[in-house]
Amino acid sequence: MTFDVKRVRAAYPALSDGYAYLDGAAGTQVPAAVIEAIADAYRSGIGNVGGEFPASERSGSIVAECRQALADLTGGHPDGVILGPNMTTLTYRLADTLSLRWAPGDEVVVSRLDHDANVRPWVQAAARRGAAVRWAEADLATTELPAAQYAGLFSERTRLVAVTAASNVVGTRPDVAAIAAAAHAAGALVYVDGVHATPHVPVDVGALGADFYATSAYKWSGPHIGTVVAEPALLETLQPDKLAPAPAGVPGRFERGTAAFADLAGVAAAVEHLAALARPAAGSRRDRVLTSMAAVEEYETLLFARMLDGLAAMEHVTLYGRAARRTPTAFFTVAGQTPRQVARHLAARQVNVWNGDNYAWELAGVLGIRDSGGAVRAGLVHYNDEADVDRLLAAVAVLA
Ligand SMILES: Cc1ncc(COP(=O)(O)O)c(C=O)c1O
Repeated sequence: MTFDVKRVRAAYPALSDGYAYLDGAAGTQVPAAVIEAIADAYRSGIGNVGGEFPASERSGSIVAECRQALADLTGGHPDGVILGPNMTTLTYRLADTLSLRWAPGDEVVVSRLDHDANVRPWVQAAARRGAAVRWAEADLATTELPAAQYAGLFSERTRLVAVTAASNVVGTRPDVAAIAAAAHAAGALVYVDGVHATPHVPVDVGALGADFYATSAYKWSGPHIGTVVAEPALLETLQPDKLAPAPAGVPGRFERGTAAFADLAGVAAAVEHLAALARPAAGSRRDRVLTSMAAVEEYETLLFARMLDGLAAMEHVTLYGRAARRTPTAFFTVAGQTPRQVARHLAARQVNVWNGDNYAWELAGVLGIRDSGGAVRAGLVHYNDEADVDRLLAAVAVLA
């Protein structure tokens, strides 16, 4: 199994502009195959779904193929794939729906490590229902989210546990399977934010113990579409608000209004792209996704070591994030510079990074950097190479 980054980069038209795209954690570039799939959908003629003419049937096929592709990516069932505009919108929708069953005195557990999109919707829904919120704390020295603390957070009133599969700033990958097992033993449902993890590691929602797994295609080379994957039988038990004539079945009743059909064709093409990143590829698309993403993880881990070692060797750089299992995402500050100044300096040298709290609101708060501009985030994805990393390191080095 080989991972050829030159071949991979050649698939992305945008990468030819000479910039080092280290901003992938906020959204990746898109390969030509995805652009073509979206254009082809429009070129071939698409209509709304449910009609008696071919253009409508083409849209129906696009939706079905998209659900199957997302099932192959996550190990879920296509009938449990809810499609929507992005993770935040879908998480609010699920929080509204699930909280209909909560009563005063019930409890939900959220974490200090999570992106706010997997915190605030639950906190706000809990407040509306009179439910209590319990917090899992990140260990600030290691930026781990210790799974052992969860046993003490659960009671017979725990209804839901929301936890991330990877922090979008420090990259920590908590032991979601252990947290989910404890949650299930307490009778709670588990909502996993897979937005930051999915581009970096093979995903298996069953092994994670995720009752709900959210991810957004624009973080892994696809268009701006989000999804939540759940067991169809679980979705059958839930009744989201919906329009009277809208689909009553699952997963359709969780989807609002007319879908972005052409973009959904792009999502399926993006999964196909991920499945073909490593060569040779063999087996079902699910098999190819798993082997390809394992090769991606290996490649990114090596490249990240180069980036981390380089940053750690600079005395004027403070690094946040020390978890044993993490995605290739660096979060750092530079002495004497605000994170925004660093980002501007890097942009002038054709290096794209993010600055701020990046919506890791709670974590930035407990790290004590939220009010001082957060930190700089430089994240790798599979199309980054040594030249990108070396350009970042050289540009940060001159700030000493
Ligand atoms: C870990 C994580 N969760 C959730 C989100 C929100 O995703 P979306 O933009 O699809 O709403 C992001 C986006 O940056 C993220 O990185």
